This record gives sequence, C-alpha cells and structure tokens, in this order.
Amino acid sequence: MSLKTLFLSLLAVLFIHGSSGANILAVFSCPSASHLIVEMSMAKVLAENGHNVTVITSLKPHVTHKNLNLIYVPLTEEERKAYEASIAGMAERDNSDLIAAVFRMRKELLAMFNKSRDVMKDPRVKDLYENKDNKFDLVMVGYFFNSFQIGIAQKLKVPVVLVTSMFQSDLFNPMLGDIQTEAYVPTMGISLEQGQSMSFGQRLTNYIFLNVFKLFMYLMEKDNANYYEELYGNDLSMPKYEDLNKNVSLVLFNSHGLSEGPIRPNFPGAIEVGGIQIKEKPDPLPKPIADFLQNATDGAILLSLGSNLKGAYLKPDTVQKMFNVLSKLKQKVIWKWENLDKTPGKSDNILYSKWLPQDDILAHPKIKLFINHAGRGGITESQFHGKPMLSLPVFGDQPANADKMVKDGFGLSMSLLTLEEKPFHDNIKEVLENPQYTEKVKAFSQLFRDRPLTARQSVLYWIEYVLRHHGAAHLQSPLVHMSFIAANNLDIYALLICIVVISLLIAKTVIKYSYEKITKKSKRATTVKNPKKVKSK
Ligand SMILES: *[C@@H]1O[C@H](CO)[C@@H](O)[C@H](O)[C@H]1NC(C)=O
Ligand SMILES: *[C@@H]1O[C@H](CO)[C@@H](O)[C@H](O)[C@H]1NC(C)=O
Ligand SMILES: *[C@@H]1O[C@H](CO)[C@@H](O)[C@H](O)[C@H]1NC(C)=O
Ligand SMILES: *[C@@H]1O[C@H](CO)[C@@H](O)[C@H](O)[C@H]1NC(C)=O
Repeated sequence: MSLKTLFLSLLAVLFIHGSSGANILAVFSCPSASHLIVEMSMAKVLAENGHNVTVITSLKPHVTHKNLNLIYVPLTEEERKAYEASIAGMAERDNSDLIAAVFRMRKELLAMFNKSRDVMKDPRVKDLYENKDNKFDLVMVGYFFNSFQIGIAQKLKVPVVLVTSMFQSDLFNPMLGDIQTEAYVPTMGISLEQGQSMSFGQRLTNYIFLNVFKLFMYLMEKDNANYYEELYGNDLSMPKYEDLNKNVSLVLFNSHGLSEGPIRPNFPGAIEVGGIQIKEKPDPLPKPIADFLQNATDGAILLSLGSNLKGAYLKPDTVQKMFNVLSKLKQKVIWKWENLDKTPGKSDNILYSKWLPQDDILAHPKIKLFINHAGRGGITESQFHGKPMLSLPVFGDQPANADKMVKDGFGLSMSLLTLEEKPFHDNIKEVLENPQYTEKVKAFSQLFRDRPLTARQSVLYWIEYVLRHHGAAHLQSPLVHMSFIAANNLDIYALLICIVVISLLIAKTVIKYSYEKITKKSKRATTVKNPKKVKSK
C-alpha cells in the first residue's frame, strides 16, 4: 500500500467515524459538584464513542476530552460565597427532619435556578439555537427539578433525555407516568431490610412523605413555569410549560433497583445506570498515595467528607476529636483536607490531601474502611468496590442514605454534629474487626456489577437508540398525557356507582310497586272476602 492510499483510507476512516457521531448538547448548569460528576461521566462515555458533545456548565468539570466542547459560565464571586455559606449553614443545623429539610431545599434550589436561568441567557448559549449553522441531534438536561431548561430542546426541535444523579422515584411521575407504588415502594427516609414489606406505620409515613414530595414538586413546577416564562415567554412558537415534562424521551437514573432496591415496576423510559461515575478499571494512583498505601501493613482507612462539605466548615473541636482517634490507630489514614497549611495535626499514619482520586483509592486492596459523609456518590463507590463504611451524615439526603447503608449491613453511622471520641473509636474498631460488614458489602458488589449492559454501555446504547429513532415517544406511557380522573378510572367508578344507584332505585321502585300490588290484591281479596263475612253475619 502506498503512502497516498494509506493516507486516503485513514481519511475515509476518520470521515466515516466523524459522520456517524452525533451533535449532542448537554445542559449541566446546576452548580452542584456531586451532580456534575455523575452528569459528566455520561457525557464522557458519549465523547469517547465519537459523539460531539457540547457541555454547558457553571462549575469547572474535571473531565476533558477532544470531543467535549465546554461552554463554561462560572459562578460570580458573590454567587460562590453565597453557595458556600448556604452549605456551611446546613452543616451547622440538625437536619434529621426530612420534611423541614425538603422545604429548606426549595430556597436553595431557587438560588441554583437563578444561576441556570442566567446561564441560559448567556450569548454563547443563545447562539446555539439562534445561529442556524449549529446542528444538534439531541439535548441532555442534567435534572435537579429544573424542567424549565428543557425549553432549549424545543428551541432546537430535537429530542430530550433527562440525566440525573438522583435515584428513581415518584418525583419523575410527570415525565414517566404514575405507577401508584405508595403501598409497597418505600420512599427516601424509609429503609427496610431485604424481603420486608412496610408495616402499617411505615405505609402511613410513606403516604405522608410522598404527598409532601408531591406538594414540593407542585411548588417547584410553579417556580419552573415562572423561569420558563421569563426565558421563553415572548416566543409564541414555544410549547406551554405544562407540555415540557410530557415530551421527555428517557430519564437516566443513577440507581440500580435490581441490586439496591426497592423493587418496583418501571416504564421502559426509565433507564438505570447506577454507578456510572465509577471506572470499570481503576487508574494507577498518584505516587505519594501509592507509596503510602504500599507501607500500610495493617490496612488503611480513607476519610473524605465530600466535595460540598469542606474541612473548614467542621467545628474545630470535632476535627480535634477525630484526629485524636485516628492518629492512635495502627492503620494508615488518607484524609481529604482542603487547607494543607492548617491540618488537624501531624501524625505518621495520616496523609492529608487536597484532592483525592476517591474511586481509584477505594479500589485499592489495602483500604479496609471508608469514613464518609453519606453522599450518594461516595456510598455507591464504596459499595461497588466492596468496602465497609462509617458514615457521618450532616444534611440533605445524607441521613437517609446512611440509614439505608446501615440497614443493608454495610457499616455504621453516627452524626458528625455530635461526634465524641469514644463512640467514634468504637465504631471504627467494630467495622474494622467484625467481618460481617465486609462480607455483606462484598456480596453486594457482585450483585451490583451483574448486569446485561454495564452502566457505561447502557448510557451509550440508550442515547444512540434515541438518536436512531429521533426520540422515543413510542416508549412513553399514555399515563403521561391522561388527566387525573382518567388515569385513576374515577369516571368509570362514577359510572359504576351511578349504575348501582340507578339499579337500586329501579329495584326499590319495582319492589315497592310489586309490594303495593300484592298488598292491594290481598286487600282486595280481604275486601272481597269481608262482604261475604258481612253477608254471612
Ligand atoms: C461540535 O459542536 C460544536 C458546537 O458546539 C461545533 O462548533 C463543531 O463544529 C462540532 N464539530 C463537529 C465535528 O461537528
Ligand atoms: C433570584 O433572582 C431574582 C431576580 O430575578 C431575585 O429577586 C431573587 O431574590 C433571586 N433568588 C435567589 C434565591 O437568589
Ligand atoms: C416534542 O419534541 C419534539 C422534538 O423531539 C418536537 O418536535 C415537538 O414539537 C415537541 N412537542 C411538544 C408538545 O412540545
Ligand atoms: C515506607 O516505609 C519505609 C520503611 O519503614 C520508609 O522508609 C518509607 O519512607 C515509607 N514510605 C512512605 C511513603 O511512608
């Protein structure tokens, strides 16, 4: 083969490859690092498989790839401060009351919505649909109650897929349809042991929680409608806000019901890709960490309180107590700590690091325990790698995540806000020395990985499925478009009740009529008889 033909065939390969790739727009502007990690891992799968993905974000993503084009609208200094202050505030409060936490969340969400609205007004974002040279085939929206952003898919007239770091729940009924699961699918905050069904009290709580969530959704939808009106209200070609959620092709969830539970029926548009942010094969560790773990003859502990809760927000005496316990252990400890100039204390067995490849470290065989803040991402990574946990939940969904993890038997949990040395020490010892936690989480790890398609393969398959068929309206349940009355057959019940009532009325009339006839007849009979009697007298 001559150099020229080689060059031409190479060009052909490139051309064919390039033309098979789709142009995908990913709207991931919610300023939450833990959400962005999950969303970006989905975008990365598509980029690695030849699709041209344009990502809109308000935080700087860690992922880069030649097929990923970034439109980055950073937080202003003011926004960043307000955001950090709101997280610090959450860390100081006791957030065990789920319902109060849910409503506090609305305020925090509105600040996020404001940022996402401003992002949608950015000239680079508007140019995506105003400049007719841009061609897109699909829009992915990173979903965290922000349906108003689906508007951009309507501007571009392309199918939309929601991707979310949340697990599947009834919050997605507007997009998927309501399967009516209150009686047997526990919602967030109610965790059951495997094979158990809910008691009367739990079903009552579940019912109340679900309806509180529905009220929350109702309020969030009203907020969404206002943001949508502000952004697209003067464009008459745009659909009504109410129709946006009804035009979603798929929802990709960061959960895996078959292993994690709860077991529930699904509509086909619900795709579960739980664990998508976890690498199927870990990358080699940075040298200092690899060397540190190499020396850990008694095993090692990873301590990370997540991306939202920086070390500085912890009360200093809580940090001191944690240090006192950890520095006396024979295990090595890798501690995620932001401010390396001011660490909790020096100890030979502790390595502080500002940034950690958490997933790769958890994959390391020397790690025997993961101390975390019960964020969903961290718990999932630990479960994937079969590592037991000690959770120190603080706010949001963390207490509920920790509770579920404990019920599953993968470790223990204690509140970070009331942490004391002795229970902290005892809990660490218990999880390290009692093998039951490791055994349970290792068994779970096997189950979690056992799927027909891996999480990455599922993302690729289903996104390309929507691309091939220009949407997935054929997968949609008619329930999405039905009124409350029709979806619950209330009109049929009303008809049945009418039939019963009318039948009863008819029956009553007939009986009354027959009774009267009979009594009249017998009366006549008696009156006929009586004259004879009279006569006979
Ligand atoms: C990828 O998408 C961007 C739009 O964000 C566009 O400018 C670029 O031309 C696209 N590349 C290909 C190969 O289509
Ligand atoms: C969101 O922006 C509006 C102005 O459009 C402002 O009135 C409101 O206070 C902002 N809300 C939050 C929570 O920042
Ligand atoms: C639904 O989305 C498609 C693009 O997939 C668009 O053509 C259609 O107008 C949308 N329908 C409504 C009611 O928004
Ligand atoms: C590992 O242990 C050896 C021998 O005790 C020591 O010389 C070395 O500095 C240790 N390395 C690290 C990274 O702690």
